[in-house]
Amino acid sequence: MRKKIIALDGPAGAGKSSVSKMVAKRLNCTYLDTGAMYRAITYEALKRNISEEKEIVQMVENLNMDICAKEDTMHVFIDGEDITQYLRTSEVSSNVSRVSAFQGVRNAMVKLQRKVAEKGNAVLDGRDIGTVVLPDADLKIFLTASVHTRALRRYKELKDTDTTLERIEEEIKRRDNLDMTRKISPLRKADDAILLDNSDLTLEETADKIISYWKKVSE
Ligand code: CDP
Ligand code: CDP
Repeated sequence: MRKKIIALDGPAGAGKSSVSKMVAKRLNCTYLDTGAMYRAITYEALKRNISEEKEIVQMVENLNMDICAKEDTMHVFIDGEDITQYLRTSEVSSNVSRVSAFQGVRNAMVKLQRKVAEKGNAVLDGRDIGTVVLPDADLKIFLTASVHTRALRRYKELKDTDTTLERIEEEIKRRDNLDMTRKISPLRKADDAILLDNSDLTLEETADKIISYWKKVSE
């Protein structure tokens, strides 16, 4: 039977991780949230109070990082400690684009991501999966939505918070801009990726579309 590899890229809040999880479950695939890996490196650098590229790359090269799927979520461990709960703080979110632009960081992460994909039957989501990590993926989706929709989705996730919708929208724009304009592996749609705008679609409808694209390519 054919091994499935699905690459899902797109900007922040597009629905990549929620949709990838659904698709992976329905197709009985492994799900790899590559953003969580870059977030883990960022968290660890902040914890160690290091910010220089050289120091961060050195840290990454000697880091004991493990990834494992537990129930519906991908968990990240550093030196055996499960750090998943710390990965989505605003401090990590506002520093992750800078850290993930370092070549040495990307080299190490891409190596790990390809190792997971090698086994086949995997859905990977991120920014450069279709363009750099897995250019031969069977199906590539560039998932997007209007910036207002994406900000609103994130705003709804944060319950007790002082932040405003406007602030979230600004932060998303700032991060997208950094991810799209960096020299190494910028966020862009691969030429052979399907552009899917899900501003007006539910998660289920978006997953249904991807499954129908999958059925077409696997015929
Ligand atoms: O969930 P959200 O879209 O907000 O972000 P994420 O997927 O967790 O990714 C966090 C950050 O990691 C992105 O803004 C990128 O800077 C970086 N990233 C990357 O450079 N390459 C990837 N394949 C995945 C994430
Ligand atoms: O991974 P990414 O940053 O692209 O997005 P996400 O974390 O999967 O989705 C951000 C939020 O938008 C989640 O709360 C999703 O449930 C929600 N969402 C939605 O309500 N409808 C969609 N069509 C896609 C995402």
